[in-house]
Amino acid sequence: MQNNPFSAELVDRLAVARRVVVLTGAGVSAESNIPTFRDVGGLWAKFRPEELANVNAFLANPSLVQGWYRERKRIATEAEPNAGHHALAGFEALFDDFALVTQNVDNLHQRAGSRKIIELHGNITRSYCIDCKLKHDEDDSRTVLPEGHASICCPACNGLIRPDVVWFGEMLPAHAIENALLAARRASVCLSIGTSAVVYPAADIPLVAREAGAYVAEINIEPSAIAAMLDESVIGSSGNVLPVLVDAVREARRSMKKYAT
Ligand code: OAD
Repeated sequence: MQNNPFSAELVDRLAVARRVVVLTGAGVSAESNIPTFRDVGGLWAKFRPEELANVNAFLANPSLVQGWYRERKRIATEAEPNAGHHALAGFEALFDDFALVTQNVDNLHQRAGSRKIIELHGNITRSYCIDCKLKHDEDDSRTVLPEGHASICCPACNGLIRPDVVWFGEMLPAHAIENALLAARRASVCLSIGTSAVVYPAADIPLVAREAGAYVAEINIEPSAIAAMLDESVIGSSGNVLPVLVDAVREARRSMKKYAT
């Protein structure tokens, strides 16, 4: 195991763990060619969040904001889950109690087969009417509105259709953050993967888990904002590290069974 970027302790702890919580961020989807937010060339380097990702910006210029989300939805829909997403999908069957808490809205964990997902920031593939709240599930990712054309509106009440994502200044879905914090408090191991850990309350998940006694490791291409507060910082891309980590945990479980008396 010497060549692994993670410790033998992390593998051993995961091999015996029954309750695990994982927090993921945009870095997990970087290898699916979905831009992150804060890396060089990331989304917030090209677009100012205050212009696009808040309700006032939306009301002031709905077609601009709808168009930006339509483009992001198209990129997410055309992307494929990568080895990191697939490894995490395989992870959940290994533990009695598992939660994949994601800040990502791109739906790639779901498409990779993960089922025990808590969506903290919503999901870009869903939309709803801001007035009557009707879900608007039709695939509008390819709709091109001509310059100056009216925005996409609700077929039932003509209200504006918005993406089902959390914007700046908005509360996270209460059930999502409550369940995520509960999972963090009862976990014996927590992984924080591909997140800069600067957006709260999401970044609280690993800290709450550690406070409650979990062993907490992050996996990132560089140390995140909270790296110094965790037990272990694994430097590497999630697409490279996660498949190896999941295999190592499976192998450790097999060895434990072999020698069990
Ligand atoms: P960021 O863009 O802030 O951080 C992405 C992190 O992933 C950085 O720390 C990178 O170093 C790391 N990274 C990049 N490629 C990687 C790879 N292949 N493997 C592992 N790590 C990699 O994205 P988030 O932390 O997800 O919120 O951002 C949090 C929230 O900020 C987003 O959910 C979004 C944004 O505002 C909302 O839209 C509500």
